[in-house]
Amino acid sequence: MKTRIVKINFKNPEISKIKEAANIIKMGGLVAFPTETVYGLGANGLDRKAVKKIFLVKGRPQDNPLILHISEIKQIYFLVNEIPNNAKKLIKRFWPGPLTIIFKKTKIVPDIVTCGLDTVAIRMPDNKIALELIEFAGVPIAAPSANISGRPSPTNAKHVAEDLMGSIDMLIDGGSVNIGIESTVIDLTQNPPVILRPGKITQKQIEKIIGKLQDKKEEFIETPKSPGMKYRHYSPDAKVIIVKDVKEIKKLRKRYSEKKIKQLNYIDKIEMAKNLFKDFREADKKGYDIIVVKEVEDKGFGCAIMNRLRKASCTKETSKNRPC
Ligand code: TXA
Ligand code: MG
Repeated sequence: MKTRIVKINFKNPEISKIKEAANIIKMGGLVAFPTETVYGLGANGLDRKAVKKIFLVKGRPQDNPLILHISEIKQIYFLVNEIPNNAKKLIKRFWPGPLTIIFKKTKIVPDIVTCGLDTVAIRMPDNKIALELIEFAGVPIAAPSANISGRPSPTNAKHVAEDLMGSIDMLIDGGSVNIGIESTVIDLTQNPPVILRPGKITQKQIEKIIGKLQDKKEEFIETPKSPGMKYRHYSPDAKVIIVKDVKEIKKLRKRYSEKKIKQLNYIDKIEMAKNLFKDFREADKKGYDIIVVKEVEDKGFGCAIMNRLRKASCTKETSKNRPC
């Protein structure tokens, strides 16, 4: 298959190009597109065959459900059985934006999207290209991150091309993403609600709007509610080692003196989130054996960053089909 790469202006998307991409979605094809978090691999979320292609192309485990992306609130009424009050409040405050909400689904949502669960994940991305693509396609777009399963999520079009060139119909190049790690996933079908995947929107921000959430961290939930959490994720080929302070790096350099070690340094959390997956990919390309990263405080946005770092630092042996 030939993958067309189309550059689109993210501030002012060219309508003719958006229409072309939307037509591919309507016809059952695959289009990778930017969102504010990471690039997504999109298909018509109501078309079983199209959604199946997403799983095949990514090599995604069959029990890891997808997020449906919408561009207007009214689309949600076809997809979910009820919109709890808490959802209304969160939608009002955070959509469009990096918050995915889990609802009870209607029959319209194909089982392949939710992997047979009776719930569906929905979000409205804060990116003009994404919103216009969904609008012109006229359907919710099912989209996981546009990487081969287990690899670091793509934060620019080049990353998508590295993983998926030749296996998707179109790749929209809309520049680098804003945030750099995936959306916060919150499950409102449980009481109290629980964050299944931390992201840019923090527990504290959510609690301000809807009150106390379940306090368990996802690492401690024994049977992961978000099936995607049980897999090794976001991982470069190099071994990722998290250190508490820079002194440990010296020790590591001694211990692994024969290895090529890349040390990643960041000024702040925003910069770290934006660059982490890109830096993982670059370190692999340059043939590093080990990536060393200094931990950040496991608080606020730091929770999301540490969650990704810990998953990336899981070794193949510890993660084989087990939560890590
Ligand atoms: O920022 C994002 O969310 C990006 C962009 C492209 O929107 N998408 C993304 O999708 O990260 P993906 O497929 O890589 O991650 C979706 C996560 C997985 O952890 C999955 O298990 C969880 O959402 N999920 C989806 N549907 C679910 C459901 N019904 N119940 C629980 N978890 C669900
Ligand atoms: Mg992903």
